[in-house]
Amino acid sequence: MIKKFTLGKPYDTGAVVRETAASGWDGFPYKYTQDEGFSFEIPLGSDDIVYGLGETTRGINKRGWIYESWCSDDPFHTEGKRSLYAAHNFIIISGAQNTGIFIDFPSRIRWDIGYTKADTARIELEGNDFDIYIIEGGSPREVVREFRALIGKSYLPPFWAFGFQQSRWSYHNSEAVDRIIDGYDRAGIPLDCVYLDIDYMDSFKDFTVDGSKFPDFERFVAEKKEKGIRLIPIIDAGIKAEEGYEIFDEGVKNGYFCKKADGSDFEAGVWPGICRFPDFLRDDVREWFGSKYKKLIDMGIEGFWNDMNEPALFYSADGIKNALEKASSLKGQNLDLGKFFNLKDTFAGLSNNGNDYASIYHTVDGEQVNHQKVHNLYGANMTRAAGEYFEKEYGEQKILMFSRASYIGAHRYGGIWFGDNHSWWSHILLCLKMLPGANMCGFLYSGTDIGGFNENATRDLVLRFTALGVFTPLMRNHSALGTRDQECFAFDNTEDFRDVIQVRYRLIPYLYDTFKKARDNGDMIFRPLSFDYPEDKIARECETQLMLSDECMIAPVYEQNANGRTVYLPEDMTFVKLSGERVTKQELRAGLHYVEVALNEVPLFIKKGKKIPLCKPAIRTSLLDTEEREYI
Ligand code: GLC
Repeated sequence: MIKKFTLGKPYDTGAVVRETAASGWDGFPYKYTQDEGFSFEIPLGSDDIVYGLGETTRGINKRGWIYESWCSDDPFHTEGKRSLYAAHNFIIISGAQNTGIFIDFPSRIRWDIGYTKADTARIELEGNDFDIYIIEGGSPREVVREFRALIGKSYLPPFWAFGFQQSRWSYHNSEAVDRIIDGYDRAGIPLDCVYLDIDYMDSFKDFTVDGSKFPDFERFVAEKKEKGIRLIPIIDAGIKAEEGYEIFDEGVKNGYFCKKADGSDFEAGVWPGICRFPDFLRDDVREWFGSKYKKLIDMGIEGFWNDMNEPALFYSADGIKNALEKASSLKGQNLDLGKFFNLKDTFAGLSNNGNDYASIYHTVDGEQVNHQKVHNLYGANMTRAAGEYFEKEYGEQKILMFSRASYIGAHRYGGIWFGDNHSWWSHILLCLKMLPGANMCGFLYSGTDIGGFNENATRDLVLRFTALGVFTPLMRNHSALGTRDQECFAFDNTEDFRDVIQVRYRLIPYLYDTFKKARDNGDMIFRPLSFDYPEDKIARECETQLMLSDECMIAPVYEQNANGRTVYLPEDMTFVKLSGERVTKQELRAGLHYVEVALNEVPLFIKKGKKIPLCKPAIRTSLLDTEEREYI
């Protein structure tokens, strides 16, 4: 049963697709206070679990921390952080009863989940215009299904988007791209996509290609497609401010960019230097921007990733001016603790600065809306701009689209990746922990940068990361500028990588069916064990394993120098090790086991009475024979 509580004049975020009549506030089940904002308190039983919040740091059970819904460009995904790139405002409180709470409010929300008071979740909204949906009854999985019916069906990517994908910031030119494809082909490691990061563009201008790096781009794209490889270019939110650049000129002429209070266009620095920012909250701007993807689609491109759309702002002219003035006023002084750190913080605080966000205005239905009120919708609407256009022009399942920033609702237009993680062992688990939360909110096509984005990866880390990535719908290895080469063929004994990635290709028919089933039924692909075994104490606390669809359980190895791991089986299962075409099986009883898993093996646990299909591996999805299936 869903109840909706409305206060004020909520902004139409587009998250909900099913009309729901509002209930009277006397039926609101929690103690609330209303002043400049709105807050309410939910009592937590000592054994209650709080699931949700999608892409966030820390555990599957969100108890014991403060999270904030505020899409943030932050490349350090450490436990101390409160926000990552997304605002996924949905939680389930699970105990004697299961209650889902969705807050449809695009500004900042503070979720104190038992941090200040262990037995209370206190939720504070910075504003008084919102809808809160409360879903009661049934199991957590049923609550999720009801919620998903409310927010509409998830995006369905093309089949080839389930292949293995290789990215790096950046493969600078056509030779670099060819070297990657060649490296994979020589090693016999399957590959379907190669990514083009910002350097493929002419001076970081969206929808342009630098002709000196890619002399005949259209032909190049076609040649790769012949080989079964798709190139996936990045699109950034900021538009370079440069007269004569078509997108900029059109945006200026039609007044499509976000404004400042005085009506002039808001500007901030990103990769190309000073940029302007399309006002994606407007229908006409979305239509215009969406249609620009055609430029690259006409050159043969079939997929994109939308980036820097929180939006990320490196600096504003005002910010730089203030920082420089401060620096010059301190020239020659002996800087004590206070002065030095203040100066340092001023420069560090130039990026994604609150004052800059506060100075942005959107125009919605002719009215000026301050950005702070709708911050969490910016990236989601960039994805919507693309997704709406793709669906209209090319139909479903044709164009790959995923984004860094997101808000619930954008799950209908694209997938997400979890942003700039690190080549850290703990980030294997961080990915695992985010998957169920993202699925709860409809983000099914999701994944993390395999091998880790920031810092140098080791061979064993990339192998273990990849073994988890075998199961994530988006399976992409990506790494940052300046880091060590992280492509699978860059390490010794590439056959181990081939063994692991071949397993992905063998599983694609199963994973694709699983994906479609979850999409059609508003279900999750990945669930915490506690969803399936609510009475089992160990399963309830398990944060290192997940249920995969209705047949399997996954438990990746996530520690360095480990030859395996301890795994908990809530019931008897078949332990399967997959490696290339090899399949090893062992029947295991319910309980705790230490299982050995070599670096070239992918561990999987299949429930009693269930079977899953495997096809023969191939080096491209286009070469898979998905009909010829062996059941294990
Ligand atoms: C951002 C993205 C990252 C990309 C980089 C350069 O940090 O999150 O994936 O490689 O920008 O475009």
